[in-house]
Amino acid sequence: MMKSIIETKDVRFRYPDAGQDAPLVLDGVSLSIEEGSFVAVLGHNGSGKSTLAKNMNAIYLPSGGTVYVDGIDTADEGRLMEIRRTVGMVFQNPDNQIVANVVEEDVAFAPENLGVEQEQLRLRVDQALALVGMSKYAKHAPHLLSGGQKQRIAIAGVIAMEPRCIVLDEPTAMLDPIGREDVLRTITRLNREKGITVVIITHHMDEAARADRLVVMDHGKVIADGHPKEVFQRVEELTAVGLTVPETVGLLDQLRQEGIDVPLDALSVEECAEAIFKAFG
Ligand SMILES: Nc1ncnc2c1ncn2[C@@H]1O[C@H](COP(=O)(O)OP(=O)(O)OP(=O)(O)O)[C@@H](O)[C@H]1O
Ligand SMILES: [Mg+2]
Repeated sequence: MMKSIIETKDVRFRYPDAGQDAPLVLDGVSLSIEEGSFVAVLGHNGSGKSTLAKNMNAIYLPSGGTVYVDGIDTADEGRLMEIRRTVGMVFQNPDNQIVANVVEEDVAFAPENLGVEQEQLRLRVDQALALVGMSKYAKHAPHLLSGGQKQRIAIAGVIAMEPRCIVLDEPTAMLDPIGREDVLRTITRLNREKGITVVIITHHMDEAARADRLVVMDHGKVIADGHPKEVFQRVEELTAVGLTVPETVGLLDQLRQEGIDVPLDALSVEECAEAIFKAFG
């Protein structure tokens, strides 16, 4: 059996300032994130994605239910450091995550605060920068870098903590297409080569399509959970909760409505082209 690195059990959440009659922002979320997996979370604005992310490393504690990180209850205050070391968090705006004036100092910041010794620290910073493909910028000023590069520095800063899981909340939302691809490729490499579990929240269907598992949220509930190929076939359901499907699936869906026999699970452009070619061949 695969091991869960994060487990949420019937998690309910209400913001304290919202009042007792405010609707639950998370309403019974039970998810088990397998160690080593690459999970994408999709959902309309306000569906509770960021709130869920923040419940995954004890930034927030659930109002009801339980979250376990590597088996540790996130409500266990005495083990907060372990929890934060196990699950690292990357946010949308790279500018808010950069704390130093030199790239390598920025990457060193969190592990140094954790008390990692200088020699180890050097090693970790070098490795983290190499992993995100930013070694040659070690001595540069972060504010002069592009958005995508800054976000990779932010990811390196998290990686230098040697987490087993990273949760990224719309890490590409502020980036141009090149920066987006760079960041996505970096995240994929961390997952495939280092076995780091990835949970990525995104509004981009093409990013979600690259995950091993896709979780769809609506009004604080998980309404779909499965392989992207399977979840994206539920075109009507997704449309009903304000989401679109990838262009490939949209096209295949239209063809099917015209009575053309194509599969709905040809997600990549190559697969989609091949499926259409076959249908007309
Ligand atoms: N600090 C807060 N205090 C009170 N309510 C909040 C707070 N943060 C978020 N909310 C509310 O909780 C709900 C879920 O918000 P959340 O940010 O988790 O959604 P989201 O899925 O991440 O949305 P988006 O796609 O816009 O990032 C929304 O209705 C939002 O208005
Ligand atoms: Mg959000």
